[in-house]
Amino acid sequence: MAFFTHQICRGLSSSAVRHVVIKNVTIIGGGQMGAGIAQVAAATGHSVTLVDTNEDILKKAVKGIEGSLKRVVKKKFADKPEAGQEFIQKVMQNVSTNTDAGAVAQGSDLVLEAIVENIKIKQDLFGHLDKVAPAHTIFASNTSSLPIAEIASSTNRLDRFGGLHFFNPVPMMKLVEVVRTSATSQETFDSLLNFSKALGKAPVSCMDTPGFIVNRLLVPYMAEAIRLIERGHASKEDTDIAMKLGAGYPMGPFELADYVGLDTMKFIIDGWSAMDPSNPLFAPSELLNKLVAEGKLGKKTGEGFYKYK
Ligand code: 3HC
Repeated sequence: MAFFTHQICRGLSSSAVRHVVIKNVTIIGGGQMGAGIAQVAAATGHSVTLVDTNEDILKKAVKGIEGSLKRVVKKKFADKPEAGQEFIQKVMQNVSTNTDAGAVAQGSDLVLEAIVENIKIKQDLFGHLDKVAPAHTIFASNTSSLPIAEIASSTNRLDRFGGLHFFNPVPMMKLVEVVRTSATSQETFDSLLNFSKALGKAPVSCMDTPGFIVNRLLVPYMAEAIRLIERGHASKEDTDIAMKLGAGYPMGPFELADYVGLDTMKFIIDGWSAMDPSNPLFAPSELLNKLVAEGKLGKKTGEGFYKYK
C-alpha cells in the first residue's frame, strides 16, 4: 500500500516540475559538513554561496576549505605545485559567503542545509526560504537522522525536496545518499542524483527511513562497541585494532565515534530511542552520555574516547 501511494505521488508531481540542472548552489551551515560540501561543489565548477549566521564562522569555514584544498593539491599536483596553486585560486573564486540566506536563495538552483540537527530550526529556515526562492529551486537537507518529509512539511514544495547526505570528511568520502520522500518528484530525484555525480561522488538511492543506509548500520555498530567495553569484554584500543585489522575498516569504532563527534552520535541515538524505545539497537549509552555531559565530544574538543593534541 505504501509503495503504491509512493508511486502515485511521484507520478503526480513529475508533470509539474522539469529536471533542474544544478549550477548555483546555496549551502547553509559553515560547519565541517557545510564547508566540505561547499569545497567539493566549488572544485567541480559550481558557483557556491556558503551561508551562516555570523562572519566569524564563515571566515573559519573558508580557512578550512583552503586548508583542505592544500591537502588535496599536495597529492593531485605533487609534481606541479604551481598548477596546484592555480587550482586552489580557481576553486576559491567559485566560493562566496553571505549571512542572508533569503537573499542568496533567490539566485539558487539548489539550497542545501547542513545546520544544527533541530527539526524546528530546519523547518523555520526552509519555511522562510520557500517564500523567496524561485519555483524551480530544489531544497535538500544533509540531516544525519531527522525525517526529510518532516523538515519539508514547512514548505509548499514537497515535490522539490529531498535529502543529500554526505560523509565526513566530505572531500575524501565518495558516497552521497540521495533520499526521496513519498512526495519527492522523479525530476527532483534525478536532479539530485546528477548533481551528486557532477560532484564526482557515487550516489545511492535511499528512502526516508531513520539513518538511511549508512548511519542505520554504522551507529548501532558504534553503540555496540561502547556496550562491549562497558561489559569489560575488551579495551577500546583492542576493539579499534580488531576492527581495522580484522574487518579492514579504516578506523576502529572509537576512533570513528570521536571523528564523527560524540554529540552527533548521542543526538542520533536519543532521537531513535525516543521513536522506538523497545529496540535494543537504539538503547541509550551511559558512557556516551557521560562523555558528552563532560564536554568530551571527540576530536573537535580535543578529547572523546581518546585525547588529541
Ligand atoms: N580534506 C582533504 N584531504 C584529506 C582530508 C580532508 N579533510 N582528510 C584526509 N585527507 C587526505 C589527505 O590527502 C591526507 O594526507 P595528508 O595528511 O598528508 O594531508 C590523507 O587523506 C590521509 O589522511 P590521514 O593521514 O589523516 O589518515 P587516513 O589515511 O586514515 O585517511 C580518512 C583519513 C579518509 C578519514 C580515513 O581514515 C577514513 O576513511 N575513515 C573513515 C571515515 C568514515 O567512516 N566517515 C563516515 C563517518 S559517518 C558520517 O560522516 C555520517 C554523519 O551523518 C554522522
